[in-house]
Formats: sequence, C-alpha cells, structure tokens
Amino acid sequence: RGGGIGIEDLELAASHHVLDLAQLAEVRGVDPAKYTRGIGLDEMGVVAADEDVVTLGASAAERLLARSGSEGVRTLLFATESGVDHSKSAAVIVHGLLGLPSSVRSVELKQACYAGAAAVQAAIGIVARRPEEKVLVITADVARYGLGSSGEPTQGAGAVAMLIGADPSLVEIEPVSGLYSADVDDFWRPNDSTTAMVNARLSISAYKNALLGAWDDLQEQGGPSAEDIEAFVYHQPFTKMAVKAQQFLAQRSGAELDPEALVQGAVYDRRLGNTYTASLWAGLASLLDHRPGLDGARIGLFSYGSGSAGEMLTGIVRPGYMSSARAGSAVAALDGRVPVTVAEYEQLHENQFGSSEDVETPRVTTAPFRFAGVQGGARVYERNS
Ligand code: CAA
Repeated sequence: RGGGIGIEDLELAASHHVLDLAQLAEVRGVDPAKYTRGIGLDEMGVVAADEDVVTLGASAAERLLARSGSEGVRTLLFATESGVDHSKSAAVIVHGLLGLPSSVRSVELKQACYAGAAAVQAAIGIVARRPEEKVLVITADVARYGLGSSGEPTQGAGAVAMLIGADPSLVEIEPVSGLYSADVDDFWRPNDSTTAMVNARLSISAYKNALLGAWDDLQEQGGPSAEDIEAFVYHQPFTKMAVKAQQFLAQRSGAELDPEALVQGAVYDRRLGNTYTASLWAGLASLLDHRPGLDGARIGLFSYGSGSAGEMLTGIVRPGYMSSARAGSAVAALDGRVPVTVAEYEQLHENQFGSSEDVETPRVTTAPFRFAGVQGGARVYERNS
C-alpha cells in the first residue's frame, strides 16, 4: 500500500427508531422546507428505551470487527458526550460485550463533538509507537435538546466505529493538522441535565472561529493549501452548517471549493440528525460511499466540539476505497429503522432510563446488544437473543 497510519475500515450504526422531520414540522407549525432546506435534515434518529451510546457503539464495533478482524487490537477508545456513567467508561462495557481479551486498554474521551478526532489522533500515536498494534475507536452519541426548542429538529442518534492501523486500506491520516482551542460557552450540558443548553448564534460563530483558526494553523504548520484538497467533510450538527463552513473556508483560502462534495458527504447525516462525536465520521463514510474517483486524493476533515475545540485533519484516500459491503451495511442500518409518530417520539423523550433507580427496560431494539435496565444501581447490558 502506501505506508502511513490511518483508518483501516469503518462502520456505522443507527438507532432503532426514526422520526420523519416533515411530521415534526407539521406538529410544530413550521414549514417543512425550513428543516429539509433551511437546516438540511430529513430524518432524526430516535433511540428505543433499551438503547444508548453503549449499545449503538457496540453494534457498530461488532459489525466492523466481524468484517476486518480484531487481531492486533490492544486499545479501545470510546468518544462520546452522552456517556452513561460519570466514572465507568462506555469503553469498558463495550469491551465486555464484544468479548475482547483482557489485554486491551479501554477508556472514554470527552470534549463535546471533538472527542472523536482526539481519539483518532491518540490512536495514531499508539500505532506510531508500535505499528503491529491496532486501535478500535468508537464514536457514539444521542443528541437531546428540549421539546419545542430551536435545537429540537437537530437531535439524532448514531455511532461510527473505526479501526486505526499502520498502512491502512481506507484513508491515511497525514501527520500535520491544524488546531484550535478557546474556552467559550456556546453549547454545554450540566451534570444534572439530560438535555443540552445552547447559545445558538454564539455556537455558529464559535464553530466559524474554530474552523478558521484551525485552518490558519494548518497553513502555518506547512499543511496543504485548499487547492491541494479535493473534497472537504465537516462536522455536521445539521448539514446546512457544512455549507456555511465551506463558504467561510472558501473566503479565507480564496480557493473555489467543490460544492458536490458537500452533497456526497451529507447523505447519512441528513438521515441520522446530529450524532455529535460520530457526525464527522458518518460524513466521511458518506463521502467514501458516494464519490467515485478519490483514489489517491487528499481530503480535508474538520472536527468541531463546542466549548470549544477544532481540528482540521487531512487524509489520503487509498485506491479501492469503495466497498459495496460497507455502503450496503450503512444503508441497511438507516433503512431498517422503525418510524415513530411525533407523539411516540415525545413519549420516548420524556422517558429517560438514566437514573440509579432499579428498573427493567422494555424489550424493543433488534440490534445485537441492548440495555436491559438498572440493577443495584448499576446498568446492565446483554446480547439480544
Ligand atoms: N424554507 C427554507 N429555508 C428556511 C425556511 C423555509 N420556510 N425558514 C427558514 N429557513 C432557513 C433560514 O433562512 C436559515 O437559513 P440560513 O442559516 O442559511 O440563513 C435556516 O433555515 C435556519 O433558520 P433559523 O436560523 O431561523 O433557525 P432557528 O433559529 O430556529 O434554528 C439553529 C437554527 C439555531 C442552528 C438551531 O438548529 C439550533 O439551535 N441548533 C443547535 C445548535 C447548533 O447545532 N449549533 C451549530 C454549531 S455548534 C456545533 O456544531 C456543536 C454541536 O454539534 C451542537
């Protein structure tokens, strides 16, 4: 192949339920075009009562490892901002569910939606020290805003699992990236809240500052110019944000950037809604599944996490990157979701099984793993029989 370190394979998982945003628009008294064209979303993933980031992440990882194998995996990094415990990591639970050997380090990472990119970089560092090792990176989130809030149509749920290794067959991540951090309260979730708080206008300007800051840093570090990047994929809290991001970047770089890449990189995110840490990687999966001719091409990957952190990574797409098995699996996960009405979605939104009170969850999801309930204050997971 071509050496380097990067993404060997990736796999997407979706929630059990889906809500058609046209139905939400009708009930909220909003023109559906505001959602489909204005913010660029068609559907929103909704988790069943027996699903959470652990079950989503484990499902994505199990399908990934079934296809690519777990040989050499000695680290599992789980990136999320909707974790299920303040202390125990989702990584350790997934490690158990997947039956991985005890000789695998397992840890959870958090910095809003950015933690997935941080996990990929940490994974690359581990592989650089010992190229025979592989790292399983899982990004998974359930995005929740208040009912009727401006953020409501930008909720979502999903996971992307990635295998990071030396001489990868999918995308080599280049060593130089652009970085940006700034402490800002644009979006956050206090410890006692199950829904996010957001200063919507500030969040868009904070995203812009992080994008341009990371881009300027990439240039200062000697990274590639915009003309040398064939297609960009951006963090997509709603897919219109990627359109705005590309306009900001075109202005800053003075380059003409390909608008078609935005459409090809948004196919899955339009149907998932915001998946926080997984959003950028679902965008990458979408681009790789829908854009032919990227063999050997350089792509740009912009990760943004409120609070705030941004990173502009670049990668070289490996020849033969298109895979009907990978693409078919993503479409099956999205098409297989069971629609809910707005009333059913509102009920699920109310019912949160997040407390330490003992409870048994209803058996709903048909995914490989389910959240069975809380026993003695601890969350219990099981393989779906
Ligand atoms: N037909 C077509 N378009 C329409 C329309 C119609 N009938 N009605 C409105 N629109 C368009 C508007 O013109 C606007 O487009 P532009 O942005 O291009 O001008 C778009 O639809 C949205 O309209 P509003 O700005 O009026 O929408 P809003 O204020 O109700 O909500 C939002 C937009 C504030 C972004 C809201 O979705 C929100 O609060 N989202 C959560 C915060 C967020 O995602 N921020 C992004 C940056 S932070 C981040 O990236 C981290 C993260 O994951 C959270």
